[in-house]
Amino acid sequence: MKKGTSVLAAVALCVLAGGAGAQSYPAKPVKIMVGFAAGGPTDVIARIVAQDMTLSLGQSFVVENRPGANAIIATEAVARSAPDGYTLLFSSLSLLVNAILMEGRVHYDPFKDFAPVSNAAVLPMVVVTSPETRIASMQDLIVLAKAKPGELSYATFHRHENDQRSVQGQRPGARRGDGGPRDLHVLSDRRNRRPGIGEETESAGGRHAQAARRFSRGAHARAIGSAGIRGDRALGGHARSRQYARRHSQSPRRGNAQVAGEGRDEGTVQGIGRGHRRGHAGRIRRVPEKRLRTLGARHQNLRSEGRMSAASGLRNAGSDAAAPAESSCPVSRGAAARVLRAWNIADLRRLAKRRLPRAIFDFFDGAAEDETTLADNRAAFERVRLAPKTLAGVARIDTSAAILGARSKLPIAVGPTGGIGFGWPFADVGVARAAATAGIPYTLSTMATASIERIAREAGGRLWFQAYVFRQRGMTLGLVERARQFGYEALMVTVDVPVGGKRERDFRNDFAIRFRFTPRNVLDFASRPGWVLSVLRHGMPRLENVADLAPEAKSTAEIASSVGQFWDADFDWDGLARMRDGWPRKMLVKGILRADEAERLAGLGIDAVVVSNHGGRQLDGAVAALTALPPIVRAVKGRMSVLVDGGVRRGVDVVKALALGAEGVMLGRATLYGACAAGEAGAARALEILRDELVRSMQLSGVRSVGEIGPDLLAN
Ligand SMILES: Cc1cc2nc3c(=O)[nH]c(=O)nc-3n(C[C@H](O)[C@H](O)[C@H](O)COP(=O)(O)O)c2cc1C
Repeated sequence: MKKGTSVLAAVALCVLAGGAGAQSYPAKPVKIMVGFAAGGPTDVIARIVAQDMTLSLGQSFVVENRPGANAIIATEAVARSAPDGYTLLFSSLSLLVNAILMEGRVHYDPFKDFAPVSNAAVLPMVVVTSPETRIASMQDLIVLAKAKPGELSYATFHRHENDQRSVQGQRPGARRGDGGPRDLHVLSDRRNRRPGIGEETESAGGRHAQAARRFSRGAHARAIGSAGIRGDRALGGHARSRQYARRHSQSPRRGNAQVAGEGRDEGTVQGIGRGHRRGHAGRIRRVPEKRLRTLGARHQNLRSEGRMSAASGLRNAGSDAAAPAESSCPVSRGAAARVLRAWNIADLRRLAKRRLPRAIFDFFDGAAEDETTLADNRAAFERVRLAPKTLAGVARIDTSAAILGARSKLPIAVGPTGGIGFGWPFADVGVARAAATAGIPYTLSTMATASIERIAREAGGRLWFQAYVFRQRGMTLGLVERARQFGYEALMVTVDVPVGGKRERDFRNDFAIRFRFTPRNVLDFASRPGWVLSVLRHGMPRLENVADLAPEAKSTAEIASSVGQFWDADFDWDGLARMRDGWPRKMLVKGILRADEAERLAGLGIDAVVVSNHGGRQLDGAVAALTALPPIVRAVKGRMSVLVDGGVRRGVDVVKALALGAEGVMLGRATLYGACAAGEAGAARALEILRDELVRSMQLSGVRSVGEIGPDLLAN
């Protein structure tokens, strides 16, 4: 209460003191103070904003650089300035970080002396390494730092500033030798010593902006959150925790910490001087939000790549939608460490099995009836033999591919899997983020535990939406329309589910009937207290897209188990043609195993077919997807994309599928097992494993790019 009151009191005093009325603000030039040298990222952004504000408010907004002491000098100067709204601070989060780290030694209070106006830009920090170090991930770096405490060199271009702090951590409790960032020795001049690693701000003004952007998009660059390190999308001290941001932005009593704009944790915050007038603050606050969109549009390189830019665009498209708090897909250190010791997808499956109650694990792992098709999917991959080429010069491998007419870093897309929030809180968001980070498309299931809007807002990357056709046709159309509004690139219609398959593991575990607690499943759940605790902490997952589907059903499990009765068993070719006509973007049809049907789909203007038997979960006895692939490829003769799923567990499986004519493969359980083992970090680990295996398989097969994989690689 006190904090909010003190700001408002200062505002009132200022108005009573007879300053210029809020209506006429700004009546004279406004100074924007920057605590860093001219030409640095904060300065460049401040100047662009100042130019825009000058144009829109008709008064000069002048940038003054007062560098030094990680912006403390400028910050203190603004804190001491007249509280009239004519001296603004344009700052990074150093405003808060300095006050926290140097408590008692800075002469300002970030909360009492400043009122944040807007988030102006998001600047990811990129850690770059010399190829000689062989450090390819944050985990590698931590392992090395642990092994050689104090020996690793890190080059920074500013001593004691944000970049150095973010790598060193400077967090309470960081000890030498614990593998924490304090084990890094910091060099202050990268020109004089050859650095082991370095860090750059990805910005318009960064000296290595181009290189940093290339790195941040590159196959080897990953968000550190996906490696299981806290901090998610920003590094170390720069990231304000989500809880913190939420707490402060929701409570008017803590109004000073309100961050407008994108609502992200990281980035640059502009504050206005102490005792600003509410009217002034309001006016300034409104302008940047409006102008920032122009800023983003005109200066593309100020926006972060990938998921964030995609998400912000989508947010505009769906601004009317309710915006629930950002979901967290948390991971404990232990789980993150465990998945790093998983060497293949089978290891991730074991970890998932150990963590989940049997009913949940079987729901994911199981298939229909005798599970013959499930086994056949794997067997089909295992039967294919390759005839590798040699002496091909395979030091450099390009795994990128065109999937559905757009670039993907791997010839892989993540397929739709419903209900996976049962396996890990907000697993859908975690898997989608992992896919975005890996640079591959992600498909959101109708039956996902995250809504169309949530994924668009929180994941980014290339998004496809998978639709089931319900008897309540309006419901399906409503979902498809939401996917269109929220910018989903493609619609995937699954056609192999006229009714649910007979999944007997679910019956046995009391999962496929109306969910109820029975002696068997109570014991089962009690045997996995970690899972139970996570459900208690995060709540039961909801099938957010179909929450209205069964109003009489009381829980997700009830809907999930009874959902077959809602599918439209009468859906036919005419219905599909109408859906094609009503959807303006790319459309895939999933669940095709026959060449004649694929050919007919090509005639309907469908862009891609997913050769699939639903991972063996529908018709037991259906042909293995990989076996069905070659005749389908021959039938469509390049008129449409052909993807295949079912049993992909190894990187070499991707090579085999491509050699048999697929454009790419889709994943089902592979990322699902990872997510059940460790949320986003686990899904990311699954993708990392598959990518590494793919690269190695390509090298050992003597192909340098995906385009070189062809039928001549097949031995049988
Ligand atoms: C737990 C689970 C849920 C699934 N949910 C969906 C779904 O909602 N929509 C869909 O089209 N396919 C769904 N599938 C099928 C997958 O998209 C994919 O076809 C299959 O998992 C591929 O086989 P694989 O898991 O052996 O790789 C699901 C599969 C699993 C294992």
